[in-house]
Amino acid sequence: MGCDWVEEAKRRAAVEAVKNIKDNFIVGLGSGSTAAYAIEEIGRMIREKGLRILGVPSSYQSLIMAAKFKVPTTTLYEHPLIDLTIDGADQIDRNLNLIKGGGGALTREKVIAASSRCLIIVADERKLTDNLGRGQLLPVEILPFAEPLVTAKIREMGGKPYLRESKKGVPFITDNGNFILDVDFGVIENPLELERRLKMIPGVVETGLFVGMVKAAYIGTRTAVKKISVSGE
Ligand code: 5RP
Repeated sequence: MGCDWVEEAKRRAAVEAVKNIKDNFIVGLGSGSTAAYAIEEIGRMIREKGLRILGVPSSYQSLIMAAKFKVPTTTLYEHPLIDLTIDGADQIDRNLNLIKGGGGALTREKVIAASSRCLIIVADERKLTDNLGRGQLLPVEILPFAEPLVTAKIREMGGKPYLRESKKGVPFITDNGNFILDVDFGVIENPLELERRLKMIPGVVETGLFVGMVKAAYIGTRTAVKKISVSGE
């Protein structure tokens, strides 16, 4: 219905990004529907090319996908340094700063990203934006206990927080047992400054802002895949 090209664009982006994986790599497995295509493709490479790859899942969803596509998994305890992580995003700006967390996996995704030598993003072109926050809420994972405090502090900062629900009246619970506030900040002029201010609020576990972490993005368009790198290469 009008978006028939989107699933194909996601898959093409994921398949192209997976070509960066080499034998013996430890690979961070992102969350969401686009990252799932990457996990499927990694499974195919293991099966058909015999590559020895271990995945570090960023969520129960990606753990289950890894099991489904027969990608062996490991943990940060065994492999604290990840060679390459492939993950999705909800918004991507020109500098490859991101808003993530649509699926609620932002905290583990950011830990995995920060443990990686290289973070590659896969997405369809609807995710590209000139300004983070335009038409996009920012997910913030919080301790349930701290919800009244964090909500009040975010309102003082000018944000409009909405508690994410899994069904009406029931809070969404993350893999870490926490709540998510989806916050309307309008256009985010300075993502790093906003990240700093949010992280200073007691009870904020993590934010969906990924600033200066991405090496390259593979963007699926209606007909092709476009690679955007920080270095412009
Ligand atoms: C989950 C995420 C996802 O990567 C993001 O929401 C994109 O998902 P999709 O590829 O399904 O659009 O950040 O926390």
